Amino acid sequence: MTESILVLDNVSKSFARTDADAITHALDSINLTVRQGEFVSVVGPSGCGKSTLLRLIAGLIYPTTGEIKLDKEKVEGANPDRGMVFQKPTLFPWLTVRENVAYSLKVQKKYNDEKDEVDRLISKVGLDEFKDSYPHQLSGGMAQRVSLIRTMINKPRVCLLDEPLGALDAFTRMNMQDELLNMWRENSQITVMVTHDVDEAIYMSNRVIVMAPRPGRIRECIDINLEYPRNRLSDNFVSYRREILGMLDFGKKEA
Ligand SMILES: Nc1ncnc2c1ncn2[C@@H]1O[C@H](COP(=O)(O)OP(=O)(O)OP(=O)(O)O)[C@@H](O)[C@H]1O
Ligand SMILES: [Mg+2]
Repeated sequence: MTESILVLDNVSKSFARTDADAITHALDSINLTVRQGEFVSVVGPSGCGKSTLLRLIAGLIYPTTGEIKLDKEKVEGANPDRGMVFQKPTLFPWLTVRENVAYSLKVQKKYNDEKDEVDRLISKVGLDEFKDSYPHQLSGGMAQRVSLIRTMINKPRVCLLDEPLGALDAFTRMNMQDELLNMWRENSQITVMVTHDVDEAIYMSNRVIVMAPRPGRIRECIDINLEYPRNRLSDNFVSYRREILGMLDFGKKEA
């Protein structure tokens, strides 16, 4: 099979505002290429267009100008090839954890072949005891983990993750970063992850994209040239941290 490639060519997105004749320039002239097997993280201040970027790639909204292509085909509308994990967990409230994870396999008539995979993934994210619980019985962090594996089970060619670990406590979050990296390595899909956590971005990705707001644009792309698994305390890791936090204007007080 040929290598997948995702290309955003000069993509801009504006939204009409209901309160005035004004327009919100959510994204301006985004150029980005992500190849199969690449894990890219996107960081930047609130409102700089990170979720908009993922929703455009998912095909849930369309660019105002420019074009998005996956394997030379124009992205038009949603498709299971491009799986999205939303900033707020989206689960069917009337289905149990297990049923939520199995849902898309059942729709695609793949469930009988992949029954074990449902249990394997639930176990990987530490929710064995909650298989038969309903979404309202879960904590925010648990629901987020279910949301994540519900998308990953489809093995999409492109994984779009919008702060997928944002609701987790620090320890669970670090474990889940490793689990997510394992899943990525198993399938080597194109992955674009939005995060507010610069450490998480450096720990997980091949490349970190730093965005700037108004209009949302790419400020810098930083290749992370570190072997996996990464050591968060190594000098190189810390110098990437300093570099990226500096770009986000958090590092100014550092010596
Ligand atoms: N459907 C919409 N209609 C109108 N404006 C929108 C819509 N979606 C996003 N916007 C605007 O586009 C800009 C970017 O929003 P977006 O949700 O992409 O930001 P974000 O970087 O994901 O922020 P956060 O870190 O808070 O999640 C914001 O100014 C927002 O108000
Ligand atoms: Mg967002």
